[in-house]
Amino acid sequence: MRQVFLIVFGVIFGVSVVALLFTYFQAQQERFALSADMQYRTRLLADSLNESIEPARQRNATSTLEKIATSFAGRERLLGVVIYDRQGNVIVKSKDVPEDVDVAKRIVEDAIKKDEPVGDFLVVDTMQLYVLAHPVHREEGPAGAFIVVQDASYIEESVAGQWRDSLLGVFIYILLFSVAIAALVRWVIFKPLTNLAEAIKSARAGRGRVSETQHGMFFRPLASEIGKLTHSLAQARTAASEEARMRLEKLDTPWTEERLKEFIKAYLKDRQIFVVSNREPYIHTRDGGEVAYSVPASGMVTALESVMAACGGTWIAHGSGSGDRETADQDGKIQVPPDDPKYMLKRIWLTGKEVKGYYTGFSNEALWPLCHIAHTRPAFRKEDWITYKRVNGLFAKTLLSELKGIERPLILVQDYHLALLPRMIKEARPDAQIGLFWHIPWPSAEAFSICPWRKEILDGMLGSDIIGFHTQQFCNNFIETVGKEVESLIDLEQFAITRDEHITRIKPFPISISFTDAMHEKEAEAPTRASLEALNITTEFVGLGVDRLDYTKGILERLRGVEFFLDAHPEYAHKFTFLQIAPISRGESETYQQFAQSVEKEVSRINTKFSARGGSAFGGKRNGWQPIVLQTRHFSHAELRPLYRLAHACLVTSLHDGMNLVAKEFVAARDDEAGVLILSKFTGASRDFDRGAIIVNPYSAEEVAESIHQALLMPKPEQHRRMKMMRNSIRDYNVYRWAAEFIKAVAALR
Ligand code: F6P
Repeated sequence: MRQVFLIVFGVIFGVSVVALLFTYFQAQQERFALSADMQYRTRLLADSLNESIEPARQRNATSTLEKIATSFAGRERLLGVVIYDRQGNVIVKSKDVPEDVDVAKRIVEDAIKKDEPVGDFLVVDTMQLYVLAHPVHREEGPAGAFIVVQDASYIEESVAGQWRDSLLGVFIYILLFSVAIAALVRWVIFKPLTNLAEAIKSARAGRGRVSETQHGMFFRPLASEIGKLTHSLAQARTAASEEARMRLEKLDTPWTEERLKEFIKAYLKDRQIFVVSNREPYIHTRDGGEVAYSVPASGMVTALESVMAACGGTWIAHGSGSGDRETADQDGKIQVPPDDPKYMLKRIWLTGKEVKGYYTGFSNEALWPLCHIAHTRPAFRKEDWITYKRVNGLFAKTLLSELKGIERPLILVQDYHLALLPRMIKEARPDAQIGLFWHIPWPSAEAFSICPWRKEILDGMLGSDIIGFHTQQFCNNFIETVGKEVESLIDLEQFAITRDEHITRIKPFPISISFTDAMHEKEAEAPTRASLEALNITTEFVGLGVDRLDYTKGILERLRGVEFFLDAHPEYAHKFTFLQIAPISRGESETYQQFAQSVEKEVSRINTKFSARGGSAFGGKRNGWQPIVLQTRHFSHAELRPLYRLAHACLVTSLHDGMNLVAKEFVAARDDEAGVLILSKFTGASRDFDRGAIIVNPYSAEEVAESIHQALLMPKPEQHRRMKMMRNSIRDYNVYRWAAEFIKAVAALR
């Protein structure tokens, strides 16, 4: 609509300027014509008056002169006459002539001097006058003069009237013109264009085709060409779908987005999928006048986004971005991905107080450290727990209203923020099939027993039909915890828990990434070092770490490992840089703020230590080398990919981690089958990559240092052998297979 206004405004502006210029010239002409007419008529009158005045002056007949002055007054625009003697003194004056007409004396003197009529326009007492002075003669010579005074204000009135009429005309014209242009642009251009864009969008999403006849005369040729294009697209899609259906039969082929789509179609028929999580997959942020969106750094989002893009459905999550409200409709709904909509995101709005208690407080300062054995003490605050319960209730209410009229909905609840949700939903909708996936570790029963509200949490989770963890170990821990804490019947053969006649199955589903996306990258050109140089990294060897700035990720331990490595192998000074990408995470929490400060301090300490040595121990070279480069901004997947491909080693040294998808993303990005993964033994990923990665204990700086050395010296064939093994493992078990297995397990239950 803004464009329509701009066009209308532009046209109106242009037309108005032309119309005003035209009126101006017309007014000038009118003024000139009226003035000339008045001068001419006054001159005629003066000449005829002179014939009566001169004889009377000859006779010094003042009474005759007075009669003349009286009879020539107040006629139409004629104000009267004034007769002067030779010295310029008034002899007689018509009564309507203003007193201040003395200003006309200059004209009288001029006329007497030149001995010919002289006229001019004057303003007297704000009155516009035209004064013509005519010399009067006697036999003995000049005998003075008389002036004829005309009221000339009608000239300006007439010009003003002309301006008024003209401006009124322009205004009416502008009004009609604007309406006409707005209607024209809106209905002939804008509306068909929007319809065309909508039709293309639907065609792209596989809903219908672009028809040539529905898009207005102007756009018919364009619509025709696009129609052909979308037809080819639909054909290609059908072919791919057929191929996927055929592949579905042969289970040894890799899972792809298409195959998952076909699987969902065949398996769920028309049943709808609902994902519920705290973190949303697309965050809109307002920065000044602009609203932009980003995909948050989150393993859960990385995995579920590919699944939803393949299956469609509704994803309910907290709308946490500053631009979220204005980009969603009044129900908080928005189709995403924003550039290529495939499913519905419904945002839930929370107050600052709710976020503080439910997210920062109970989820991240109680449950997160409770489940991760990273030696950070959980903070159990009653008020956080109360808010956590209330917000879980809010999510439940929102989900239940979305489920109205939908039979046997399939619900995939994500993570520890929503532990109470499954029970709330199950009680209201026993027909719903609920899968809860716990993206973080589950600790031992002993460790979990310190939580004051452990029984309510376990009861909430047991409202699910299936609870998925990344590893068998976490499943074992959970079964053991339930056995210890709540009354239930545990079937260790089926890994099932019966509580109040409801059965919950516990199963490992090691999450992964969409390996096929990474495979497409193979077609792309090999990355240049430009992305490293942009970060000021010019050394021959590069180590890489990519994590949210979280104390469970073992970043400090990793930095100490790098320090040990450079201490033990000074020959790598100026040759090795460690790049740590660590976007700020959970910045509202004091624990995270302090952790961020410790990382920055540690980076600066190590950099200072080695740059000081650069002067002496390394031949006095000071080329600005910094052994550690820390980036705390968010890097998109597209920005990370070349960095993954350029790194000689990727370090994942989590102190405890459910899975860790960075390890898998690094492997997926390495289509050159080179590079080395250094992986903590405390990650879920170490189960899949135990033979491909160098497995380390992150608590041992010596071990991490040695693994870096080993990685940099590793011969290429050995790198290929390991990388190939790891790539095969994620090719075989990617996120599409994870989703298919999880969804199948949930939907298969009666
Ligand atoms: O991967 C584990 C996880 O808790 C995700 O569930 C979560 O989205 C992610 O870490 C990032 O944390 P946050 O959502 O608090 O930024």
